[in-house]
Order: sequence, then C-alpha cells, then structure tokens
Amino acid sequence: MAEITVSVDGVKYSDHVEPRLLLVHYLREVVGKTGTPIGCDTSNCGACTVLLNGESVKSCAVLAVQADGAEITTIQGMANGGGLHPLQQAFHQEHALQCGYCTPGMIMAASDLLRENPSPSDEEIREGLEGNLCRCTGYENIVRAVRRAAQAGVSK
Ligand code: FES
Ligand code: FES
Repeated sequence: MAEITVSVDGVKYSDHVEPRLLLVHYLREVVGKTGTPIGCDTSNCGACTVLLNGESVKSCAVLAVQADGAEITTIQGMANGGGLHPLQQAFHQEHALQCGYCTPGMIMAASDLLRENPSPSDEEIREGLEGNLCRCTGYENIVRAVRRAAQAGVSK
C-alpha cells in the first residue's frame, strides 16, 4: 500500500491505496465522488474526465498514486455554492444531454478547453472534445453549449 495525499474539490484526503488502484476507482470508491462515472475502463469514452492540476485527464488512465500531491476537480466541484457552474447552465439551456452519462466528462473537458482557448471556433470545440464520446446527442447541442459558455466568458 502507498500513502497519497490529494485535494479533491477543495478538500484534502490522505489514504493508503494499492499501487494499481486507478484514480477513477479512488475517486468513486474511496472519496465517494460518484458524480464521475466509468463508461468504458479502457480510456476511450472520456466519461471519467476530471481536472488534475487544472488539466483534463481521463481518470481511468491514471493511477491514484500518480495523483499524489495533486489538486483534482470533479464535476461535483464545479457548482458554485447552490448554483450551477456556467458550463452546466449552458448544457442545460442548450439541451446538450439526454441520458447524461457523458455529461460530467464533457463538462470537465470543456472547462479545460475554454481555459486554454476562451473563444474557440466550432471546429476547435469539436477537436477539443474529440476524446469524449456521446451516444445520444449527435454532439450538435454540446458544441452549442460550449459556444454559449464561451460567449458568456467562462474560462474556468
Ligand atoms: S471510463 Fe475512462 S475513458 Fe471511459
Ligand atoms: S447524453 Fe447520453 S451519452 Fe451523452
């Protein structure tokens, strides 16, 4: 077992974990952040995307021990107090989800995209989210939601 200390959504956690434990399993099963779903476990779908020191990563492709000392943000850390994060609001307003399974990962990836490029073209939005799969929406409304959030000046 290895000891790790991480900050998750602004709260510090120290835990003993098996070196092979994936970050997504640590977040869900040890920390209780079940808002981060597992879609494939083979690093294809992007549903498990979180921010690791501000950059989006697929948390099924990272070991928990690799996150030692890091700041992690999950979808559960995005809402501001009682209100939705502007990206969550934009997804809601543009009907950018149906089953919602991909949505946490989409929003985390979109937040990293907007941090790097605050006013992306539609093509850049599609490129930025190409690692995140959605089986329901056809992506059009997702692109519209990210554009709307960009226009609202979201860069978190
Ligand atoms: S569960 Fe991580 S990419 Fe699919
Ligand atoms: S809304 Fe169902 S997978 Fe994207």
